[in-house]
Amino acid sequence: MTETIQILGLVGSLRRSSIHKVLLEAAQQVAPQAMHITIFPLHDIPLYNNDVEVTEGFPPAVQVLRDAAAQADGIILATPEYNGSVPGVLKNSIDWASRKGLLAKKPVVTMGGSPGALGATKAQEHLRQICLHLGMYLLPKPTIAVPKLPEKIVDGQLTDELTRKFLQEQMEQFYHWVMRLRP
Ligand SMILES: Cc1cc2nc3c(=O)[nH]c(=O)nc-3n(C[C@H](O)[C@H](O)[C@H](O)COP(=O)(O)O)c2cc1C
Repeated sequence: MTETIQILGLVGSLRRSSIHKVLLEAAQQVAPQAMHITIFPLHDIPLYNNDVEVTEGFPPAVQVLRDAAAQADGIILATPEYNGSVPGVLKNSIDWASRKGLLAKKPVVTMGGSPGALGATKAQEHLRQICLHLGMYLLPKPTIAVPKLPEKIVDGQLTDELTRKFLQEQMEQFYHWVMRLRP
């Protein structure tokens, strides 16, 4: 019997019509049946403040995120590129989640796209460096960097068949990656 795994999906954009939310939702649709992806909204995560962590502990929204990350078998990070790097929203959430080594040894994969030709490749490179710094187990390939992503979305759905095929391949590989690395 195929074993089911639970995956946490984070989107590095708070925009209502985020193309990265659509990308992650498409990943949900094409992922293997045995891979459940839950998208965790980052809207309520406050800015990291070490004083708060030391004096009050983790704020409630952060604790929920940390519990979700701890319980997940793996994490998918769907990131836009902001000024050649990772948006603050995502970096901030990773900073909170990373405390006390929580993300170490957690399987992770990144994906991204852009209105332009480069598909958030610089942001993903930076994000991958962060993941490696944290000791996360980063799926090396296939990578997903979708150029002209808004043009591949119709009525809130990723309709481009080739991109969906690439996503499916990445999700299948990630499933095997997580299974291989299971403690
Ligand atoms: C502050 C800011 C900086 C941006 N910098 C880049 C960039 O460096 N490279 C790029 O390809 N797109 C850049 N963009 C455009 C984003 O790729 C585009 O807004 C994309 O739709 C954001 O993803 P989302 O729809 O998931 O929010 C930037 C957008 C903003 C708001």
